[in-house]
Amino acid sequence: MVPNSTKEYSKLAKLYDTLMGDVDYESWADYIDEIMQTHHKDPIDVMEAACGTGSVLLSLAELECYRLTGTDKSAEMIEVAKQKVEESEYQIKLEPFSFRDLPYRNAFDCVYSVFDSVNYLHSEEELITSLETIRKTLKPNGLFIFDFSTPKNSLQSVDHLNEAEGESGTLRYFRKSWFTPADKIHVNEFEIEELDLSTKKVISSWTETHRQRAYTLSEMLSILDQTSYHLVAKYDGFDLIEADENSARVTIVLRCQKTQ
Ligand SMILES: C[S@@+](CC[C@H](N)C(=O)[O-])C[C@H]1O[C@@H](n2cnc3c(N)ncnc32)[C@H](O)[C@@H]1O
Repeated sequence: MVPNSTKEYSKLAKLYDTLMGDVDYESWADYIDEIMQTHHKDPIDVMEAACGTGSVLLSLAELECYRLTGTDKSAEMIEVAKQKVEESEYQIKLEPFSFRDLPYRNAFDCVYSVFDSVNYLHSEEELITSLETIRKTLKPNGLFIFDFSTPKNSLQSVDHLNEAEGESGTLRYFRKSWFTPADKIHVNEFEIEELDLSTKKVISSWTETHRQRAYTLSEMLSILDQTSYHLVAKYDGFDLIEADENSARVTIVLRCQKTQ
């Protein structure tokens, strides 16, 4: 059977939480909470852009101090997030918007985006357009907090990511992963199969190819220089310590400079 090729985070949506089984989302939410409380005087209205299946949002909701919204380009990821929120005791508004299509204006005290989602933006132009759209969604002095993965992270993780596999319900995946230092593109190719559980036969299969662009810290800072944000902080990993060119993942905190 020749697998059909399908778009990023469509068929993978139902396998995503299995794929991310080892990720400590609660600590990630605590880290975002710490950054918001450190750099914003009264954060209430908060949006996660590229929220995926909503795991960080649900952990933040447990703190019971934010009004939460989640958006993501993938309608399938939003669908899974909605099911998880319905099964919880929390209220989180969820909408299928990409970074550059966000329709909100002056609506949020903080917007955040985690787990390398910004690395799906491959060019300077895409990054700047998305950053400016997010800026419009922020209230005056609002924060945009995002992380990105650097080439060092790709080089460190690629062997571990390559040839991984997993399953959930009737679906299973095999992942191949490779990184090309010359263009800094990290590819994760998923072969996804749907099984008839009674016969164990494959009834459908798809290939989903994810391409992420790794940015060095200096490349990202020079892009941020072209926007109208004020750079508040650049943190290494999951601590409030300064990132440098050796950081594998960097978390950036930007302040929206508009006055009204
Ligand atoms: C690695 S997942 C991270 C999801 C979630 N933040 C988490 O921590 O599990 C990357 C997410 O970015 C989303 N994404 C990719 N490009 C996007 C874009 N241009 N606008 C909005 N979301 C995007 C994908 O659909 C996917 O849900």
